Amino acid sequence: MIRVAMATITPEHDHLGSAVSRLGSEAAFTVFGRARALQAIGRDIIHFEIGEPDFDTPPHIKAAGKAAIDANFTHYAPNPGLMEFRELIADYATRFRGLRVPFFAENVVVAPGAKPIIWNLLTALLDPGDEMVYAEPAYPTYAAAAEYLRAVPVPVPLRESRKFSIDLDELTAKVTPRTKVLIINSPSNPTGGVLTRDDLAAIADLAEKFPRFVVITDEIYSRNIYGERFESFAQFEHLRDRTIVVDGFSKAYAMTGWRLGYCLAPPAIARAATLLANNTYACVSTFIQKAGMAALSGPDEPVVEMNEIFRKRRDVLVAGLNELPNVSCLVPDGAFYAFPNISKITRDDQRLGSYLLEEAGVGLLGGSCFGAAGAGYLRISYASTIETLEEALRRMRVALPKYSD
Ligand SMILES: Cc1ncc(COP(=O)(O)O)c(C=O)c1O
Repeated sequence: MIRVAMATITPEHDHLGSAVSRLGSEAAFTVFGRARALQAIGRDIIHFEIGEPDFDTPPHIKAAGKAAIDANFTHYAPNPGLMEFRELIADYATRFRGLRVPFFAENVVVAPGAKPIIWNLLTALLDPGDEMVYAEPAYPTYAAAAEYLRAVPVPVPLRESRKFSIDLDELTAKVTPRTKVLIINSPSNPTGGVLTRDDLAAIADLAEKFPRFVVITDEIYSRNIYGERFESFAQFEHLRDRTIVVDGFSKAYAMTGWRLGYCLAPPAIARAATLLANNTYACVSTFIQKAGMAALSGPDEPVVEMNEIFRKRRDVLVAGLNELPNVSCLVPDGAFYAFPNISKITRDDQRLGSYLLEEAGVGLLGGSCFGAAGAGYLRISYASTIETLEEALRRMRVALPKYSD
């Protein structure tokens, strides 16, 4: 059985440094590997484990990438990104979030995905012993980076009874003078929960009381929203000097494999992230940045259409999950994950996840892969056709009653 919950790697070689032993791993990729291995021996596997849109990248973006290679945009780029791309990102971020105080190119650092920019930002911000507060269940990279840096991850549990939105009293209780970073992620991976404007305003009030911490707002799912409109923490403009927005192209534009993301940070923090870029990935491939420019300046319809399809899938999946015996699932307001409660079946969500993969050919993740607060849940990425979702539900209906711990 694959058990990957925030697991650390035991150094298997005498020469490995100790820091790597503190690194957790993102379970999605581990389970994806196992699911692919089963497929390779002829098993019919449904992939709900990995968080990537199943759509093809929109044609105008692909065309721009190809044209850029032909036009020889194949050389190094400046560490923080091409100036015209950074200007475009700053403009898009300002418009999309409806901000009165604009972002500028000096705020933008481009990276090969949101993940490395999160890593580099935490590297720039956290000293050993600093506390990093975040809502859990959470994207595993946050805690992995903090552990690696010998900072202290401080999770605040998200509760289903509150629609997986953060309890401000619990959050306040976890913030101390040692808190250096507060990470929020709305819409959330893995719960699909969305923070309201009031939630964000309360977090902003807390930030005013504790001037030492920086807010990293991971808005990678900002285009995957099913409610009224996306609310960004960046709207609290009086906190702009302590706010870092993380976003990217993977989820909105179905560009996961292109590896393209960015942050918008106060200039001094952007410069530190640029220094880390200089020392790690150096820069993002120039033709990929050109494709990103086409994504931001081209037609927005593909993004809206993909999101509308996700909404229909969400409705089919969540209704189907709620019909399964001993399973209940809230309707998520964002991202493309369902987070059903399976605690009436077992507390060992990862074992159940493995069972569903091995026995029913349905690859998904145990909620505890996203931290202890995720125990008793499964995470299902519904980036699949409605027919596939219905087939998975059928398989689960057969397999779940046969499960025993
Ligand atoms: C919450 C969250 N942040 C960041 C990322 C990183 O996305 P990427 O590195 O593909 O831009 C992901 C990907 O799954 C995510 O779920």
